[in-house]
Amino acid sequence: MAAALQTNTRLNPINLVPGRSLANPSRAPCRVRCAAASPGKKRFNIALLPGDGIGPEVISVAKNVLQQAGSLEGLEFNFQEMPVGGAALDLVGVPLPEESFTAAKQSDAILLGAIGGYKWDNNEKHLRPEMALFYLRRDLKVFANLRPATVLPQLVDASTLKREVAEGVDMMIVRELTGGIYFGEPRGIKTNENGEEVGFNTEFYAAHEIDRIARVAFETARKRRGKLCSVDKANVLDASILWRRRVTALASEYPDVELTHMYVDNAAMQLIRDPKQFDTIVTNNIFGDILSDEASMITGSIGMLPSASLGVSGPGLFEPIHGSAPDIAGQDKANPLATILSAAMLLKYGLGEEKAAKRIEDAVLDTLNKGFRTGDIYSPGNKLVGCKEMGEEVLKSVDSKVTATV
Ligand code: IPM
Ligand code: MG
Repeated sequence: MAAALQTNTRLNPINLVPGRSLANPSRAPCRVRCAAASPGKKRFNIALLPGDGIGPEVISVAKNVLQQAGSLEGLEFNFQEMPVGGAALDLVGVPLPEESFTAAKQSDAILLGAIGGYKWDNNEKHLRPEMALFYLRRDLKVFANLRPATVLPQLVDASTLKREVAEGVDMMIVRELTGGIYFGEPRGIKTNENGEEVGFNTEFYAAHEIDRIARVAFETARKRRGKLCSVDKANVLDASILWRRRVTALASEYPDVELTHMYVDNAAMQLIRDPKQFDTIVTNNIFGDILSDEASMITGSIGMLPSASLGVSGPGLFEPIHGSAPDIAGQDKANPLATILSAAMLLKYGLGEEKAAKRIEDAVLDTLNKGFRTGDIYSPGNKLVGCKEMGEEVLKSVDSKVTATV
């Protein structure tokens, strides 16, 4: 951290203020922006963006858990719920209304459900619900996407991998989120000189974009098991050659972190062959998208995995990595745990409120220990519950202040 600050203050990894580090959020100063609350209480503005499909269901459950865990730690939240994605398209004709963006931007942290659905699948590109996500990521400048993938002892048998391969997996994927082929120019579909249609995108990384995500990753690895694997395709892609060069150059500032490099095709294979070899992975936008879905399956269900997207300044964006799951939307079947755990990441990384975050994490473990399971993580002998009931059980565990041990 000190080294990061000395060499380039602009690269202060997560978030914004000197002294605050991604890996040590408790050092964050309290960001109290609203009028003074009850004495001894801290107040935060939280933007809720439920979005589409199962989004509203999981957000309403996670909101209650967040409120409850916060209140036990003297935190007060002012929630502002705004439409994004398909919901916003239906209401006002654009995926990210200005009011929604402004509310998000002015908040202390943002909790997002999910975006997209069949109904809008054939929309023109600029009217697709997913554009809301890209605008949010780009305009909030949340370049660092943290996607933990942990196999909980309670869910080892939900993994598609053999118990001995899956047991004990605990990794953090650090995905670059605002650059690469997702945003690179030129891009488009046009007709070439032979009259044939061609589609093209550009994988583009500037040195500073690589450096800042690499620093977040080194800092993250340093606070974990000290191992960082940078994933690229440097045997083929120029952008990856620069990526590898920049990441390698930074390694001398982090002598306590063991840096390795891996081509993405090999990484995809190693993830299912021997996932325990990974501690922290850093990679570009599109490889991170793909590898984090793969890693999620090792843990048993994509319905379990939270994420945090953080920038140098401004609010972080916290969301489950599962999508909107339109096939089960509105049926009370969704697993709310990924969103509940995203609320925990919001507390920890977004607000620096580690104690409240721990309350939520412990309550989730406690609820799983009691055998409550949604359909996606169900195995015989457990209690099958819906989204709401799972939320109520987590709330009960938050209330009972149980500290589960795993
Ligand atoms: C994710 C998602 C998004 C992405 C989609 C919904 C645009 O897959 O957050 O991983 O590709 O980034
Ligand atoms: Mg994805």
